[in-house]
Amino acid sequence: MFRFILISFLTLTGLLADGLKYDADGQLVRPENYRDWVFLGSGLGMTYGPAAVMSERPMFDTVFVSPESWKGFKATGKWPDQTVFILEIRASSSHGSINKAGYFPTDVVGIEAAVKDAKRFEGGWGYFDFPNTAPGEHVHSAKVLPKTASCYACHQTNGAVENTFVQFYPQALEIAERFNTLNAKYERPAPTPAKFYRSVVAEGWEKSARTLEAAYAKDPKGPLVQEESLNRLGYQFLASQRTGDAVAILEWTARTYPKSAVAQYSLAEALTSAGQVKRAAEAGAKACSLLVTDKSLDEARRKALTQECATRKGL
Ligand code: HEC
Repeated sequence: MFRFILISFLTLTGLLADGLKYDADGQLVRPENYRDWVFLGSGLGMTYGPAAVMSERPMFDTVFVSPESWKGFKATGKWPDQTVFILEIRASSSHGSINKAGYFPTDVVGIEAAVKDAKRFEGGWGYFDFPNTAPGEHVHSAKVLPKTASCYACHQTNGAVENTFVQFYPQALEIAERFNTLNAKYERPAPTPAKFYRSVVAEGWEKSARTLEAAYAKDPKGPLVQEESLNRLGYQFLASQRTGDAVAILEWTARTYPKSAVAQYSLAEALTSAGQVKRAAEAGAKACSLLVTDKSLDEARRKALTQECATRKGL
């Protein structure tokens, strides 16, 4: 009974403070249960330097935020005062169990924190590091890092929402976009394929095509304009009976990737669905002739397309 009252008292007064606790010396106490918090995102081997390359053994950076703060963010697109973030850094391995390629996370090698606390920190934000004391063990509390620490400048200059890297947390990013709380200086990247799909549905092809052109001009290797993404979008439009949009995006793809047999083949399929028999045959014939020179095809695709061309006589 006593325990019940105590718990409800703490909850009601917010004294659980949702993970934020300082000790008597004003040091931040490392929250023990942050893995029960809300998962914002996980970066793998992210590097920020000019000539940075991904390491052979990339680290996983996983970001958690305290649950009450997340509720606040969902309601406003901003982080409430007293929000705590934990960045957990884990080593990775690609050797284990049935894994043949790719990485899975292993030991915790770093724990860092960011706290929004307007009363306590000049500028509103404090950054913390909880270094290792032994492998897998970390100090229990940490002093706020001095303003000269690299954390402050990088977060303030490059974070998309206040001091935080919401641009790398997809669900939070959607919320910030909805509430229009992205920092003015934050340069919005091209939409992801899913966002682009929704914009075509909402605004039509003509307007969206300009987005595509701009995205390609800015970064031809960006996630939206890679041939595979465009091709997949084409088939998604076909599957949802948006044949006109499918033809439009696959025409764009075929124009942008003129050496690609797959692009012509997909276009032929969309044109067939649209009842444009003659143009479909032309695209099909082009696919079959490109097959000889297209170096980008993997074996499985080459085999499938070769068979297709043989049986359908140039489609
Ligand atoms: C050169 C830029 C840079 C510096 C310097 C930097 N960070 Fe970050 N930080 C990032 C990026 C990018 C992310 C996004 C998540 C990731 O790493 O995958 C991030 C995420 C975080 C997060 C999760 C919450 C958020 O703000 O998005 C914490 C906590 C954090 N960093 C703490 C620190 C601390 C503590 C330091 C200093 C010891 C530091 N960072 C230095 C770039 C930086």
